[in-house]
Amino acid sequence: MSVWAILVAAGRGERLGLDRPKAFANLGEEPMLAESLRRLDACPWIDAIVLVAPPGWEEPAILLAEEEGCGKVRACVAGGELRSDSVRAGLAEVADDAVVVLVHDAARPLLSDEVVERVLAPLSEGWDGAVPGLPVGDTLKRVGGDGRVEETVSRDGLWAVQTPQAFAADAFRRAYSPSNSLLQATDCAGHVEAVGGRVRVVEGDPRLLKVTTSTDLERVAEMLA
Ligand code: CTP
Ligand code: MG
Repeated sequence: MSVWAILVAAGRGERLGLDRPKAFANLGEEPMLAESLRRLDACPWIDAIVLVAPPGWEEPAILLAEEEGCGKVRACVAGGELRSDSVRAGLAEVADDAVVVLVHDAARPLLSDEVVERVLAPLSEGWDGAVPGLPVGDTLKRVGGDGRVEETVSRDGLWAVQTPQAFAADAFRRAYSPSNSLLQATDCAGHVEAVGGRVRVVEGDPRLLKVTTSTDLERVAEMLA
């Protein structure tokens, strides 16, 4: 079976606030994108990679993939305005005979073979998708505009989900088909759920922390050191 990975790196990184897109922020000596790209390329479960770069940054992204010797990269395309537009652009480059599509955020540099293995396993048991998640630990409150607590929400059964997210290719294509282009969801699994797909959560990894702010970037750099 062939497993295609879409690495989405096309965001602007507004909350990080650098003079270049977040994927090209320095993590150690290299652009952050290099870390997840190298890990996906080395992962024995991944056959091919589509890189989704910020518009205008396709060339540096391809050069980086070459420098890193990432031989599984089959295409590099520009992303779109929303993350879902970037995923759709990446999916257009996935081969027709792909059996599984795995989507990963370049903003989560520290992925491991183990987590990839965990999200792939449910697909062979008939699930349409699997996502890594961690049970929510903090107490959750719904807060109004004036800062006043409106209610304390039970965290029973609540999980914070991460990427990589893996899907059966047919279910994934259905979720992202033009006829479903108006569906709103904040992650790929949300799109698949919206068309009735069965998605399960598997154990995530605290190291899959998403780099949003400069503090996150420092934390990831420390984890790597
Ligand atoms: N992403 C993307 N295309 C977009 C938006 C996001 O490919 N139009 C990717 C980002 O590159 C990142 C992942 O989706 O790898 C998660 O997005 P997020 O952390 O929100 O990154 P940014 O959108 O770049 O950051 P910000 O929201 O602070 O601008
Ligand atoms: Mg964003």
